[in-house]
Formats: sequence, C-alpha cells, structure tokens
Amino acid sequence: MTATKMPSSKPPSQWEKLFSLGHVTCVEDLRRLAKRRVPRMFYDYADSGSYTESTYRANESDFQKIKLRQRVAVDMTNRTLASTMVGQPVGMPVAIAPTGLTGMQHADGEIHAARAAARAGIPFTLSTMSICSIEDVAENTDRPFWFQLYVMRDRDFIDRLIARAKAAQCSALVLTLDLQILGQRHKDIKNGLSTPPRLTIPNMLDMATKPYWCLNMLQTRRRTFRNIVGHATGVGDLRSLSSWTAEQFDPRLNWDDVKRIRDQWDGKLILKGILDPEDAAAAAHSGADALIVSNHGGRQLDGAVSSIAALPSIVEAVGDRIEVHMDGGIRTGQDVIKALALGAKGVYIGRAFLYGLGAGGEAGVSQCLEVIRKELDVTMAMCGLRDVRDVTADILAGDPPYGL
Ligand SMILES: Cc1cc2nc3c(=O)[nH]c(=O)nc-3n(C[C@H](O)[C@H](O)[C@H](O)COP(=O)(O)O)c2cc1C
Repeated sequence: MTATKMPSSKPPSQWEKLFSLGHVTCVEDLRRLAKRRVPRMFYDYADSGSYTESTYRANESDFQKIKLRQRVAVDMTNRTLASTMVGQPVGMPVAIAPTGLTGMQHADGEIHAARAAARAGIPFTLSTMSICSIEDVAENTDRPFWFQLYVMRDRDFIDRLIARAKAAQCSALVLTLDLQILGQRHKDIKNGLSTPPRLTIPNMLDMATKPYWCLNMLQTRRRTFRNIVGHATGVGDLRSLSSWTAEQFDPRLNWDDVKRIRDQWDGKLILKGILDPEDAAAAAHSGADALIVSNHGGRQLDGAVSSIAALPSIVEAVGDRIEVHMDGGIRTGQDVIKALALGAKGVYIGRAFLYGLGAGGEAGVSQCLEVIRKELDVTMAMCGLRDVRDVTADILAGDPPYGL
C-alpha cells in the first residue's frame, strides 16, 4: 500500500496563518469553527445522534444536573492530573475515543490526533473504520496507541486486524460491543454521506465554501478506509459506510466472541458500549481489564439513558472487579471531574476532539486537550483537591443520585 509520509514540523505557511485558530477559549469555540471549515456531510456526521437524538442531547445535558461543592481556604499548590488507565500512565485521565472517518474531518486526521494525544501524554484510540490505517498511524507517531475493534462477519479479517494491531505494538485493544447493527442517523442519509464525497453539484458548492479542508485534503492520498480496503477479501469500493456496516458487522456477536478475542489478545482489553449493570457484570466476568460505560455518543439506541446517568449503577454492580471508564457528552473539564467523582477511572472524548481537528488539525486537537486540561485542573482546585486520583463523590453537592 502506498503511504504519504507526513511532512515534519515546519513554519506555518501563509494560508496556515490565514486559517489560524484565533482566540479559542472553550470546546464550543472549536465546534463553531469546525462547522464553518468542514464540509457539511462530515460535520453533520460528527454532530448528530440517532433518530430523535434524545440520548445524544441527554449525554450532554445530564452533566448540568450534577453540582459541585465549592471549597475554600485549602492549599491549592502543587496540583497533579497524572493518573493511570488500564495500568498505563496518563497525563490526565482522558483518552481520545475511537471515531470512524476521522481523516475526513481533516486530512490525515487520525495521525494528527494521535500526535496531539502523544504530546499531551494521553491515549489515542484508532477506530477500525478510520481513514488512516493502523500502519499509517504507527509509522507517523512514536508512542503506542490503542486500537478499537469491530467484530465483522469475516473472522479471518478480524484475526488479521488483531495481528496487525499487535505488529504495530498497540498497547490496548478496545472491543466495541454496541454496534452490531447501525442506528439510523437522519442527516447522514439526507446528506448522502460517502467517502470520498461524491462530486455532486450540492457537494461541490458546499466544498467551495470550505477551502481550508479542501487545501489540506488535496495534499493527502488517504481518503478511504485504509484498515479495510486492500485487507478484507473482496472489498474494493467502500463509498457507502452504511451498506458496508449492514453487510459486514456481525449481528451474532456474543460473549463467546469476547472470550475468543480475550484469548487471542494478551495485552490490555477494554470492552466498549456497556450501559446496563447486567452487561457490566458479564464484562467483569469476561477477563477484560476495563469497560467503557457508553451509548456510542447517542448514535445507537435512541431513548437509552445518558452515559453519566448509567455510570453509578455500573460502578456499584462491578465494584473493583474491573476498571470502569465512561464516554458520552464530555465537553469540559468540569464534565470530566463529575465522571471521575461518580466512579470512572478515566473518560474518553469523541466530538470534542473532532471539533478541534476540524477547526485546526493537529493544533486544534492540542487546543481542545489544553482547554479540557486547564478546566479540569482549576475545577479540581476549587473543589479543594490537588491530586486527581483523590476525586470521589465527596466533591459533589447533595446526595445520591446527585440530581441525575
Ligand atoms: C463521528 C463519530 C464516529 C464514531 N465512530 C466510532 C467508531 O468507529 N468506533 C467506536 O467504537 N465508536 C465510535 N464512536 C463513538 C465514540 O467512540 C464515543 O463513544 C462517543 O463519541 C462519545 O461521545 P462524545 O462524542 O459525546 O464524546 C463515534 C462517535 C462519533 C461522534
């Protein structure tokens, strides 16, 4: 497979200056900028949930219901956000979530996000449905990353994917369990989401208003699902993500498959997409190292509870038999600390980093991580703590279920 080598860091060109990030103070600024810079079908792909989007909205709005206790006259010097996730040291307990088509939010998006994550000392998770392949990311970064696996009907392809992740020295495997069939996202259908985008008149008119995206995209050859094309037998044209998903994702996925993958992967295994205490108990039995409380960012079962509302009962169900992580709706450092207070050992961000990426590539992702890091640090201090590992439900106002 031909690989476009990433250019090394060099001074910003004229047009890079023209498309600078400006004065970004929060993730919402990055979202607005991404909306202006990324073609509509890809921006909408990120900023949408399934069906009525009620779970997508609840993921964010439920964080607002939880209130923090303000503490004063406590020493706030020498603070630290350093922690561990599945035993690996992290600069803060925040990882980048796996997202499909990341290289369509910005050219070579997965490589840029992995580099920004490495600089911040946090894990980057590469999706099976990425544009840059496992090998592309490994060749262009110098820190091990995590790989997210979807179970497909073609088990030989899955075995080869696992072997490729091992060869690339991925330091954890994230097995996604909540996408055996695809929840419908109306916008993707209406926009005719495909990659690369079809050159229809509406698409071309839209892209004409997105010069930052176009100029970057013209400089890369990575424009299709490079983990799959050329690797899965009989797969050539992958323009339609939904038809590929419908044909290839395995609706028979069950706990025996989890066991088989556990036996195949000797590294850290993380199960993603747990929202129910009974499933959490099964995950704790499976021999996995961690589970992620997640509803796929509100993109699958519309009407499911928000991730943050599901978190306490899952923590209670599994105790310390398995490490608990969560994702869904995290846009601020305040959200991060609330999830930690309710028992998560670490969290993942999906849209927040995608907005950074769409707004400004690698610098945009770094900006996003820096915004969240600072918010988490200041919030922790104002709650009277200096070490993020000391965060407990003590920092929350009121009694359980804390407004949820
Ligand atoms: C655009 C997009 C694509 C996604 N693709 C994947 C994927 O390929 N694999 C996966 O396990 N989860 C995927 N997810 C779910 C994320 O990993 C994560 O669960 C979710 O984004 C968390 O919610 P947040 O976006 O509110 O942070 C995707 C999410 C988004 C927004």
